[in-house]
Amino acid sequence: MEQTQVREIVRRVEGAPLRDLLRVSMDEVQVQMDSYLDPALDALALYRRWERQQWAVADLDLSEDARHWGRLEEDQRDAVRRTMILFFIGEQAVTDTLSPILHAAPHEDERIFLATQIADEARHAVFFQRYFDEVLGIGGGLHAALERVGPEATAGFRRIFDLHLVTATERVRTAPADRSAWVEAVVTYHLIIEGYLALTGQRNLLRFFRAAGLLPGFTTGFTAVARDESRHIGFGVLALRRRLAEDPEQARVIARHVLELAEATVHTVVNPEQRLRAPDPAQLSEALRQSPLEARDFSIGSLAKRLRSIGLSETVVDQIQDRYRGLYDQLWARYEEIHGVEHPVRWYQRWAEAG
Ligand SMILES: [Fe+2]
Ligand SMILES: [Fe+2]
Repeated sequence: MEQTQVREIVRRVEGAPLRDLLRVSMDEVQVQMDSYLDPALDALALYRRWERQQWAVADLDLSEDARHWGRLEEDQRDAVRRTMILFFIGEQAVTDTLSPILHAAPHEDERIFLATQIADEARHAVFFQRYFDEVLGIGGGLHAALERVGPEATAGFRRIFDLHLVTATERVRTAPADRSAWVEAVVTYHLIIEGYLALTGQRNLLRFFRAAGLLPGFTTGFTAVARDESRHIGFGVLALRRRLAEDPEQARVIARHVLELAEATVHTVVNPEQRLRAPDPAQLSEALRQSPLEARDFSIGSLAKRLRSIGLSETVVDQIQDRYRGLYDQLWARYEEIHGVEHPVRWYQRWAEAG
């Protein structure tokens, strides 16, 4: 893509008021997100974008969504509910765990940016509360929402939040002067949870709703969430780059932690214990197909881009990519062992081979 084209997309995404975000695609948000890898950007530049990109959950029009919801088949409703609840849990969890990272951030501009991020995460949790209440018909917040889906929907996912995120942020809370603890927490929070897991899921969901012409209120609000997440992920990268410049030893801490989280992360994405209810890809139009191969390349490729931008060596980045890629193969095979059926990825693999 040409530089002028990139600048034009970034300008449009950054400047779009809430009502225009329905027409902004996830690929365009992605272009804007990548522009935040520019080492010339600092935490205050991201703060200034936050000031200009305010939006209110109360301004979203959800009336069309409620009509769509009523027309969906029950198994479609079930699938959407299961996916949305993961985001609901995630937004609540990150709202609850960010304050130790803010408190222990070594520089004033970092603490100022992180204060804006806490406000964003609270807004995202409120977005899901309102959506569950008004569209899905589940009032009573996260607790009530969790009761409506089975525990298998959230099992794989809980390891990363209940174990890794809580452990990492607790360490920062009890030892705020420990730089390596802070670095590990930002790796867990910004690079893996926001940059890898949330972004991958967000991209799948938004592409699907857009292609199907479904749930415009959700699509608008969730695109605003994705734009907020661009700033958060951009901040994570610049903060880690800065820690590395202050202490080159942190390169090893970052790489080791990204590798330590690989199993839990890929397990969360593939979630082999849960039987997929998605329709046969052969029956879907091309716009509605979601290739797990393409999603894997996208997620690992984005992670690699950020690790390079932080300053890790090409050798280390390659080693990380190989580890993550191999885990998908293992877990797709495990899915087939558990359920005794082919994983949908095989269809896409044959499709790719047939060219
Ligand atoms: Fe968020
Ligand atoms: Fe975030």
